[in-house]
Amino acid sequence: MSDLPTLLAECTTVVDEIMDVILLSQTKDTEMRLFEAMRYSYTTGGKRLRPFLVTHSSALFSVDQRCAARVAAAVEFMHTYSLIHDDLPAMDNADIRRGKPSCHRQFDEATAILAGDALQALAFEVLTAPETHVDPAVRVELVRGLSQAAGVNGMCGGQMIDLLAERTGELNISKITRLQHLKTSKMFAFSSVAGSILGKGSHRSYMALHNFAQDFGLAFQIADDLLDVEGDRKKLCNSVGQNVVDGKATFVSVLGVERTRAHVSLLVDNAITQLEVFDEVADPLREAAHYFTNSIN
Ligand code: IPE
Ligand code: IPE
Ligand code: MG
Ligand code: MG
Repeated sequence: MSDLPTLLAECTTVVDEIMDVILLSQTKDTEMRLFEAMRYSYTTGGKRLRPFLVTHSSALFSVDQRCAARVAAAVEFMHTYSLIHDDLPAMDNADIRRGKPSCHRQFDEATAILAGDALQALAFEVLTAPETHVDPAVRVELVRGLSQAAGVNGMCGGQMIDLLAERTGELNISKITRLQHLKTSKMFAFSSVAGSILGKGSHRSYMALHNFAQDFGLAFQIADDLLDVEGDRKKLCNSVGQNVVDGKATFVSVLGVERTRAHVSLLVDNAITQLEVFDEVADPLREAAHYFTNSIN
């Protein structure tokens, strides 16, 4: 297998190209400002980790690469929307995203809200298109999975807990775990089971991918919080120390750095154990779990 940075770069090239093709196919009557704000927000960087999970879970089931790439694009559109809204003054009030002005700083708040809304709608449009999968039942399953990952019992639910915790300063490990599980792991889980949905995999393989991504997502989010405390600004391209400034409840603020690191290691080991049902085609997923949580060790 190629090394992980190479695989990630390959995935980025494919998904970025298809996102542009999809967005450009929408432009006929589009207000250019809205179109530009949408495109600005996904062309300013990003690791494309969720598309990577879609791509490499799909490889396990020999899914047609164009179908997988469309689902990867849908997930990244959804993720981009979530970041645009997360940065708004009413939420994290972040001026910088990926080292560049956040969408509402580059454009304006109303445009950023609309760009997020339109990206979310586009994600579902992509999943419902016949080019994404010939079987309508598979397309419905994809829409259902992404809705659940992004909605009230997923990412939005997690964001609500996050904002409330910030206001009340409540610190409690089980609540933080639930927050991060909803905010981050649910989208990771959808991205990872997408391959099984597209390839009509067994229940066992679906669950293996689901459980892998739950643990990986949590480890990733905790590693992100560790970087907020310890990271260098270059690596993060975000504001170091922002969680502390915001009074955010994180694993680090409750457990301290060393115990948090140990917890991340345990979660990564658990995540990788879930993949035992798969052969070496799952190696990119195993590698990703190490790679994206290693910068803290
Ligand atoms: C940032 O996600 C938000 C979290 C859920 C931690 P990523 O760290 O995947 O962001 P990009 O897409 O690489 O910028
Ligand atoms: C953003 O979470 C997560 C989502 C939008 C779901 P954070 O606020 O913790 O992440 P950053 O630090 O802005 O990327
Ligand atoms: Mg936030
Ligand atoms: Mg934020």
